[in-house]
Parts: sequence; C-alpha cells; structure tokens
Amino acid sequence: MMPRIVAAETLDGLAVDDPAAMRSRRDLRRVHHAMGTRSIVHRALRDAAAARRKTGPLRVLELGAGDGSLMLGVARALAPAWPQVELTLLDAQALVDRATIKRYGELGWHVVAKVGDVLNWAASASDPLLPDRATARWDLIVSNLFVHHFEGAQFAALLNAIAARTDRFFACEPRRAWLALAGSHLIGAIGVSAVTREDAVLSVHAGFRGNELTALWPTQTVDWQLREYSAGLFSHCFRAERVGVNA
Ligand SMILES: C[S@@+](CC[C@H](N)C(=O)[O-])C[C@H]1O[C@@H](n2cnc3c(N)ncnc32)[C@H](O)[C@@H]1O
Repeated sequence: MMPRIVAAETLDGLAVDDPAAMRSRRDLRRVHHAMGTRSIVHRALRDAAAARRKTGPLRVLELGAGDGSLMLGVARALAPAWPQVELTLLDAQALVDRATIKRYGELGWHVVAKVGDVLNWAASASDPLLPDRATARWDLIVSNLFVHHFEGAQFAALLNAIAARTDRFFACEPRRAWLALAGSHLIGAIGVSAVTREDAVLSVHAGFRGNELTALWPTQTVDWQLREYSAGLFSHCFRAERVGVNA
C-alpha cells in the first residue's frame, strides 16, 4: 500500500520569474507529453459534453491552469466540435501570455486569465469568476495535475465549491501507484530539471487511486453520475456530471 502524502511542491514555492521555475514550467510540457495528458483530457471532455443540449457558448473554468498550454492543445482537438467556448484560466501566478490567448482566439475560444488562489475562490460566498454570479453555473470545471495539491478540510471545501458551481467536473491527476512512482524516479530521462524531478515524485505520493475522489465528492444535495478510472500509464481521472443536466 502507498499512503497518500501531500507535501509542498518546490515549483509552488518559487517566484514566477525564477529561472528554475521557468525551466520547470517548460518541463511540464514534456511531462504531459510522456503522460499522454492531452489525449486523455481530450477524450474525457469530448465524451463529457457530447450530450449537452443547452445552446450558447460552453462556459469552462480551469483551476490551477498554469500557462494554459495544456488546455490549448486540448482546445485544438476539441474546437471543431466545440466552436463556441468561454474559457477562464485560474492560477495563483500570472503565467498565461498574450500569444497563448491569441492562439485560443484563433480557434474561436474566448479566454480570460485570472490570477488568484483557488482556496479564496472556493471560500467566496458566490463565484467571483462567473459573469452571472447569482444563478449561473459553469458547464464544466477542469483540473490537470492540480487537485492533488490539497487534502483535508481545504480539499473538502474546494470540492464543495466545485460541486456547487458546475454541471460537470473533470480532473486528470497523478496516479498513486508503483509504476507511476518508478516513472517519476526515472523522469530525468526526458531531460527535465532537478525541480521537476523532485516534484514528480512528490506528485505521485500526493496522487490518487481507486475510488478515492468518488469517496470525497459531495453528493448530499445533488445526484451525480461519477466515474473514476486509470488512464495511460501514470494518470488517474475523475469525472462528475449532474444527473439530468443533458435532459
Ligand atoms: C503542476 S502545475 C499544473 C499546471 C497545468 N494545469 C498543467 O497541467 O500544465 C500546478 C499549477 O497550480 C498552481 N497552483 C498551486 N496552488 C494553487 C492555488 N492554491 N491556487 C491557484 N493555483 C495554484 C501553480 O501555480 C501551478 O501553475
């Protein structure tokens, strides 16, 4: 058994313009390539919103979005089926550059990058990022390599806020398993920096397995269709959809 251990990751403690942080963020693209994240997320999102009946733009929020480049790759694959998307990228650091926003725009996706702590977003009485705060919900909230940062009461508060504010949630996180742990120790082979090598191992220890996210998901007031599964060699995915949202 591998108990779940959540520890602060090195990258999160570095200043946005620290060269080691900049290098590690670039490394993330290689890491995603090795993990096959883009196609895992693309498949899940394509399926998640396939039956959507509502008209108008799809409103999507990514939590802990980083520089937005992973979702941009997913957006390129989804754009033919999802031509109208309003995407909000939330991260604790200002990492999304104009060129990235322009590339989203070329796909017809309208992107807004917001800087803030996800825990503050979760703690606010109504969603400060939604244009229509009082009634509307996101069609979809997404997180990639992100919710494994949290545990305990903070994680419960975050999941509660997500569940209250969206019709669908999808997370693609590290899988806490021996193969993923071995992979994280060998990740230097793809040429990543010391910070990334260290954080990769921490991420696997903080990752998920089995039905752990299902057990933590708040189901008291709303019926949800939940699915939790392994994807690729190293990823663990969780999908939640409100029952009846496509009716
Ligand atoms: C491992 S990176 C993943 C980035 C992106 N989702 C991806 O997959 O490429 C984790 C991101 O979470 C952000 N982050 C960490 N703690 C946060 C918090 N409390 N609120 C918002 N963002 C946070 C970091 O700044 C970082 O960009």
